[in-house]
Formats: sequence, structure tokens, C-alpha cells
Amino acid sequence: MTAYEIAAIPGDGIGVDVTAQARKVLDTAAGEHGCQLKWTEFDYSCRRYAETGAMMPEDGVDRLSSFDSILLGAVGFPGVADHVSLWGLLIPLRRAFGQYVNLRPVRLLPGTTSVLAGRTGDELDMLIVRENSEGEYSTLGGRHNQGMPDEFALQESVFTRIGVQRIVRYAFELARTRGGRVCSATKSNGIIHTMPFWDEIFAEVANEYPDVASEQCHIDALAARMVQHPDRLDVVVASNLFGDILSDLAAAVTGGLGMAPSGNINPERTHPSMFEAVHGSAPDIAGQGIANPVAQVLAGAMMLEQLGESEAASAVRSAVELVLAEGTVATPDLGGKATTEELGSAIAEAVSSH
Ligand code: NAD
Ligand code: IPM
Ligand code: MN
Repeated sequence: MTAYEIAAIPGDGIGVDVTAQARKVLDTAAGEHGCQLKWTEFDYSCRRYAETGAMMPEDGVDRLSSFDSILLGAVGFPGVADHVSLWGLLIPLRRAFGQYVNLRPVRLLPGTTSVLAGRTGDELDMLIVRENSEGEYSTLGGRHNQGMPDEFALQESVFTRIGVQRIVRYAFELARTRGGRVCSATKSNGIIHTMPFWDEIFAEVANEYPDVASEQCHIDALAARMVQHPDRLDVVVASNLFGDILSDLAAAVTGGLGMAPSGNINPERTHPSMFEAVHGSAPDIAGQGIANPVAQVLAGAMMLEQLGESEAASAVRSAVELVLAEGTVATPDLGGKATTEELGSAIAEAVSSH
């Protein structure tokens, strides 16, 4: 039996609840399909920050590097400034482990309805390929003339040729596997250095894939298109910030943030990849036991897939679809009254009985 060493970082808020449910579902699927997940839990979180002054220990990254994969809950909670908690854990992990792809599949699942009237699953099936290691998320810049009337802040973006090329190539490769097309999110009409550079590299890479249809779309128009004509989108490749915004929008049009999984992927497999929901720690509902665990469960299915356990992964996806289609166990965001634990258990039972 293949055993995988998995690091779990439940993190903060609802991250803790949904990770517990995902582990239960994944363990059930692994057991049914002849593999084993050996979990090690890490307390890296805002709670830890409050106690020790750091989100993770100094060798926090090293301690994770030998794992086969990482399942992350969510990071960030009131009391610790977001830029402190996120730059103290999530963002450094993505970078240290070469997880330059943030893959965010968006699909309308059976039994759920889109806020977009009349849309069906066939029309809502997109893959957001978000650049995950550079771009607008940078430490370059600073605050100047603090306390003066002419106070200002500067924030620089970093786009490297290699960084843009590899994410765009990833998007084209993915589109090719599904007979799809690629749409690049840009804003070269307003941002005069980085975005024309992004467009130029996109066009070069597109030339390498004459068999894959491609187009560019300004991010503002693309946001509108995602709402009005999502059926015309397939693989969407975007910079770090644009991809972040588009992925919440895409989640919203397909059943909400409780449904959207995400993989921080190191395609070369030189370090572990890390799987998490698109959503955050949701302080507004934390501690109530009502968060929807589906996003985190589906992130777990992406993890199984990446580990090579395709059968276990598809068992998890089918169980989610079955439970959602039945509709009897649903959390409040899906219009039901079930708890996080009840929905997680219903999915785990569906895994073991099919
Ligand atoms: P959020 O995603 O946590 O919440 C946005 C809204 O969606 C809230 O109303 C919340 O209740 C709802 N929601 C989210 N997940 C849900 C679920 N599974 N079931 C039901 N409802 C759900 O975004 P936010 O409020 O902007 O951020 C809260 C904190 O999380 C911040 O500290 C932020 O920086 C952090 N964050 C972390 C991650 C991460 O670790 N990957 C991602 C996003 C935000
Ligand atoms: C996400 C989150 C993070 C991001 C934040 C919390 C830094 O929104 O994973 O989508 O912007 O990458
Ligand atoms: Mn986000």
C-alpha cells in the first residue's frame, strides 16, 4: 500500500473546521482505494502568532519541505494585521516551494444553482490559472512623508520573463488537454510597463500553440464577461492579483466561496504542492460550525489527483456531487441547515458506500 506523508496546516477560523472534514473524507477515500495518508499537523496560525510573535517557527518552511503534499486551511484573523499573517505564512510557502501555479477550477456542480439565472453546468466550467509567485504581490516600495499632507505610498510589481512564460505555457498545455481555449487577463490600456510585457510574452507563447485558440481581454471587461457570458470562457490565465480577484468572482457565479478549491502547484515537483480552498478564514462565521466544507474537500481531491491517486480523487468528487444533488444535507450558504460536520460526514459516507 502506498503511504503519503501529508502536512496539515488548519490555520485560522473556519480553516480549522473545513480541514478536519476534508481529512475525514480523504482518509475514507484513501482507505477504499488502497493508499494511506499519514498526517502531521502544524499549528502555524494567528493563534501561534499571538503566543509566540511568529506565524511559524524560523525553520517552519524546512519542516514542511520533505512532505509529499500540504493541505492548508486558511490563514488570517482579526487581531493580527493581514499583511503580517499572510506574508508570515501563506505567501512565503508558495514562493519557497516553487508553487508558481495557482490552479482554481470553477464548475457548477449538480444540485447547486448559479446566481446567474438559467445557467447550467455545461456553461460554467472554467479553469483559472493564476500566477502565484510574483506580479503585484511584492515587497518593493514603501511609505513616504508619513504624517505630512503630501504623504504617499509606492508599490512596485515584478513581472519576469521566465515567470510570465511558465504560467502562460501552463495555461496552454492545460487548454490543449481539454480541447479548450485560453483567455489572458490584461490591462495594457492602463498599466504601461508590466501589462504590455505580459501581453508580448502571451503572444509569443500563443505562437507555440497554433492548435489552441487564444485571446486577450482587459480585466474589467473580462469581469463583466464572466458574469454575462461565462460559457465563452475556458482556461483563463491571469497575473497574481487579477487571478485572485477573478477566482472569487468565478466562485461567486458557481455556488459561492464554499464550493471553490485551489491548488498551489509546483509543476516540476521539486517541492511539495499545497492545496487549499479559495476562501479565507471567514471570521464572520468562525466558531459557528456552519462553514461549507466542500471547497476544502475538493481541494483534497486535487491533492489526491496530484499524488497520482486518480481513483480516490474521483471517488471524492463523485461523493460531493452525489450529496449535493440529493440536497438533503446542505450548509446555510447552500440554503440548508446542516453543520460543517454533518455535510463532511455525509460526503465521507457517500465515499464509502459507492
Ligand atoms: P473569506 O473568504 O474568508 O470570506 C468572505 C465571505 O465568504 C464571508 O462572508 C464568509 O463567511 C464567506 N465564506 C467563505 N468561505 C465560506 C465557506 N466555506 N462556507 C460559507 N461561507 C463562506 O474572505 P475575507 O473575509 O476577505 O477574509 C477573511 C480572512 O481570511 C482575512 O484575514 C484574509 O486575509 C484571509 N484569507 C486567507 C486566505 C488563505 O489563507 N488562503 C484566503 C482568503 C482570505
Ligand atoms: C487567496 C487569498 C490570498 C491571496 C491572500 C489572503 C493573501 O486571497 O489565496 O486567494 O491573495 O493570494
Ligand atoms: Mn483570494
